[in-house]
Parts: sequence; C-alpha cells; structure tokens
Amino acid sequence: METQYPFTLPPLPYGYDALMPEIDERTLHFHHDKHFQTYVDNLNKLLEANPAYQDWSLERLVRDWAQLPEDIRQGVRNNAGGVYNHDLYFKTLAPGAASEPEGPLADAAARDFGSLQELKSAMKAAALGQFGSGWAWLVTDGDGRLSVRKSANQDTPLPLIPLLPCDVWEHAYYLDYQNRRGDYFEGWWQKVDWPGLSRTFARLAENRPRYPQS
Ligand SMILES: [Fe+2]
Repeated sequence: METQYPFTLPPLPYGYDALMPEIDERTLHFHHDKHFQTYVDNLNKLLEANPAYQDWSLERLVRDWAQLPEDIRQGVRNNAGGVYNHDLYFKTLAPGAASEPEGPLADAAARDFGSLQELKSAMKAAALGQFGSGWAWLVTDGDGRLSVRKSANQDTPLPLIPLLPCDVWEHAYYLDYQNRRGDYFEGWWQKVDWPGLSRTFARLAENRPRYPQS
C-alpha cells in the first residue's frame, strides 16, 4: 500500500471466499471493506486537515504519533495503527492447506520456542490473554530473535519488527465464531501464510548488518 498520504485501501490479496471455512466471506467483506476502509478514511481526514504531516510515512505515523499535535495525536495513533495492522493481517493469510515455516524461520522458531507447537501456544496465550480489543504478534528483532507480544486497540509492536499479527478485535471473528476467540485463533492459524512469512524472514536476515570479518 502507499507509504504516505493519501492512503488507499489495498485490495484483498485473495478472493473473499478463499479462506473458508475458517474465515468466511461475510467476515472478510466487513473486515476488509468496512473496518479497514474506515481506518484509511479516518487517517486521510486527519492528515487532510494537517498538511504538515502529509509527508510522514505510515511507519513514521505509527511509530512517532506521540510527537504530533495533541488534537490529532490519539486519532492518528488509532487510525494509522489500524491501517498498518490490517494491511499486514490480510497479507499474512493465504488460501489453501495449512503450512509450516521453512528455512531460517523454521530454524529460528525451533531455537527460540523449542517447536512450532510451542510458538503456536505462545501466540494463542497472547491472543486469549489480550483483554478487550487488540492484537497478538509474532515479532523479530535486529538480531533475528523471535518473540510473541500483544498490543491493545490498534497499537503496534514497533520498533520490534512485526511478522505475523493475529487480530483479536471481535470484528475479526464474531460472525464466524461469536465470542469463541480460541476457536477463531485455531481457524486463523490454519490460514497463516508460512511460506510468505518464511520468505520475509529470510529477506530480513539477508539485509541484517553484519560485523566485518576480521
Ligand atoms: Fe480488525
């Protein structure tokens, strides 16, 4: 998606029925076309009225919202976060059979969690442990270490590098699962695009600065 104002809604990267039965068509229409669109529209409105910040990148808005004028600070925090988080959420899911991490991401998962099953348990504990609306995250740091975080509302885990977000706002699952957040997590987990995440993680590793060899 655009890196700065004016932001537009990126298309859903697969069909609306592509994640069924785990995440159904109605949920994707509401979640992507209504909720995600609203964050995009609200962020554009805030910036339209504040041209001095129109050249800020989405990532800068999300990271440095505390430096903004008080009257738009909370609005940008919520809506730039909503845009950033949802962009990543839809991009990290994929149709088809459940997959698993590959290459350096598989190695890092084994090193930092013990196994994929333990990584999943940590993610699920974060997803279920987030009180109210928010997110659970698989993140990495500058050294390629993996960990799990949670965030409230539309906050992000930056400056840690977000790899995989699980949206635990009720709007992500209520039509499919009502109040059963744990069942939603299990369905969502089936649709995680591990091959795509493995490529992202490998790219990050390649670009990581290395100390010169002596
Ligand atoms: Fe959402």
